Amino acid sequence: MIKKGIILAGGKGTRMSPLTKAVNKQLLPIYDKPLIFYPLSILMLANIREILIIVNEGQLDQYKKILPSGDNLGLKITYKEQSSPRGLPDAFLLGEKFINKSNVALILGDNFFYGQNLTKNLINCSKLKNGAKILLHKVPKPEIFGVAKVDKKNKITQIKEKPKKFLSDQAITGIYFFDKDVVKYAKQLKPSNRGELEIVDLLNKYKKKNKLSADFIGRGGAWLDTGSMEDYYKTTAFVSAIENRQGLKIACLEEIAFNKKWIKKKHINNAIKFYGNCDYSKYLRKLI
Ligand code: DAU
Repeated sequence: MIKKGIILAGGKGTRMSPLTKAVNKQLLPIYDKPLIFYPLSILMLANIREILIIVNEGQLDQYKKILPSGDNLGLKITYKEQSSPRGLPDAFLLGEKFINKSNVALILGDNFFYGQNLTKNLINCSKLKNGAKILLHKVPKPEIFGVAKVDKKNKITQIKEKPKKFLSDQAITGIYFFDKDVVKYAKQLKPSNRGELEIVDLLNKYKKKNKLSADFIGRGGAWLDTGSMEDYYKTTAFVSAIENRQGLKIACLEEIAFNKKWIKKKHINNAIKFYGNCDYSKYLRKLI
């Protein structure tokens, strides 16, 4: 069972400048809450309660204002600063002490997931004992993502980061599940031509040992990478449409924790005081 998760929430956010000059991308709003709430909710839905958030050097105070310690969510949240964006596998080098020889999940701070079977899928992935697991999603523009080619038996035959030539339309989404060897393998990586440690190089280490498997977010699920301006606003529109239609919130962290019985009514009341008079607080009040 995977009990620990890392949210990689640093990065320069250059594609979204000037919005990201003063505020980190993951603290910008996706409709009615900061972007970071969405990947955090995904780890919570996978029953992962020990969470390390990796942020840019100098931005820790911004994050602590909105997610101080996790006490009010029944979580243990700790932080680590990344001095420069050295690549996704840097999460495992920075997180070595936190991981402490356990299995671990990694989610990118700018990824959004939604769908009916998602929770079941996530809980299934978090049962991983050995090897690594990735979640794939069909996309029309695979060249802007890491992609995986799979055979008829859903076995991964090849993976590549942003392939110029078509390889597959199955994008590797920004949630990954690893066994404890991940730190050892991350230490063996060398920076690529673009000067970053590459997640596909890490995944290839597992693949070579026949230890990489895939699950799929089917047609009933949505995955959005909020990395570009266009996708960022599409995600906001998506959340607004669903929430207003259903009257239910996506990624209301206190609701998830309350339903899982990790927190009590008093914690919801604390949260209402903390957020103040806003729609999010009104929604929390309705829960209790
Ligand atoms: O979104 C899924 C894709 O994410 C995968 O398909 C790709 O294989 C994977 O490489 C990644 O591609 P991106 O081009 O979207 O990665 P990006 O550099 O935008 O970083 C993703 C998030 O991680 C972003 O919120 C910033 C954060 N980050 C990134 C790097 C490289 C860090 O916090 N530190 C880093 O060193």
